[in-house]
Amino acid sequence: MNVDVEQLNERGELRHLINLGSLDRGRLEEILDLAARYLTPVGGAAPRDDILKGCTVANLFFEASTRTRASFELAAKRLRADVLNLDVNMSSRAKGESIMDTIFTLQAMQVDIFVVRDASTGVPARIAQQVAPHVCVLNAGESDASHPTQGLLDLLTIQRHKGDVGELCVAIVGDIKHSRVARSAHQALTKFGVGELRLVGPAELLPENDSFAGTVRMTALEDGIRGADVVMALRVQRERFAELGDIPDPQEYFRRYGLTAERLELARRDAIVMHPGPMNRGVEIDGAVADGPQSVIQEQVTNGVAIRMAVLALIHRHIRGTQGVAA
Ligand code: CP
Repeated sequence: MNVDVEQLNERGELRHLINLGSLDRGRLEEILDLAARYLTPVGGAAPRDDILKGCTVANLFFEASTRTRASFELAAKRLRADVLNLDVNMSSRAKGESIMDTIFTLQAMQVDIFVVRDASTGVPARIAQQVAPHVCVLNAGESDASHPTQGLLDLLTIQRHKGDVGELCVAIVGDIKHSRVARSAHQALTKFGVGELRLVGPAELLPENDSFAGTVRMTALEDGIRGADVVMALRVQRERFAELGDIPDPQEYFRRYGLTAERLELARRDAIVMHPGPMNRGVEIDGAVADGPQSVIQEQVTNGVAIRMAVLALIHRHIRGTQGVAA
């Protein structure tokens, strides 16, 4: 169930990041501009700042994660926050404690920022509605509904390779129906006036007709990626299928929808290949494409840390303004 929550405080500062839909383009530009300042070349010194010194960040991941969890942890540590990674399987939620009792318990230990991933829609917003006035909540992936920092890191990656998205054709390929990544990418790209956004996949994995306004739906992979500037492959999200029998056979899926080097030749010669991870090589993408010269998949990961540093640094203004934490 979708839950509305005000993401800005009374001074117009970012407090929570739950979804991109209700933030204006200027707010997203503020995050992207700050993220660009936190980007340093891989192999060089990682960016650091002490803006979150004295703040405590708790990572609560009630669904599996490699990239987002590690990225938020590194981002918070590089801003000098104290970081708590709750082992949810060993927490008292396993004994029946409600998520809000877990949150209130950690809030009593002076956690200032909750980073939350959950399999149910509305959980990050419900937490945001109930925490103390100085506390912030960041959505790290919410069911199939929203993954706002992923949407921002994808936009940043596209802009750094292609500049203004207004003239671009972006093809998102795969299981879009179950994808929070696709929903947040759609929100981010639409706000920046993307030229054409194509949703490409088998009919049963395309979203409902009343969602993803302004997009073009295609079921033939070859048509969908022809002439595209950006091809974003998505994993088949087996964990979100109501009926196990509806999960596509991996070999048959790769035969029809796998992104191979041969198919990628249909896109523009300078097209970039993206994937949010985790990848299933040989299912939605061929390993040669994932590791090939057009792939920017590892850059997406690097950009993700910068985006999360930027979001954490911006919400710090709210904490400082309400709690008097030293800047
Ligand atoms: N892209 C993404 O959310 O990856 P993880 O599930 O590893 O965090």
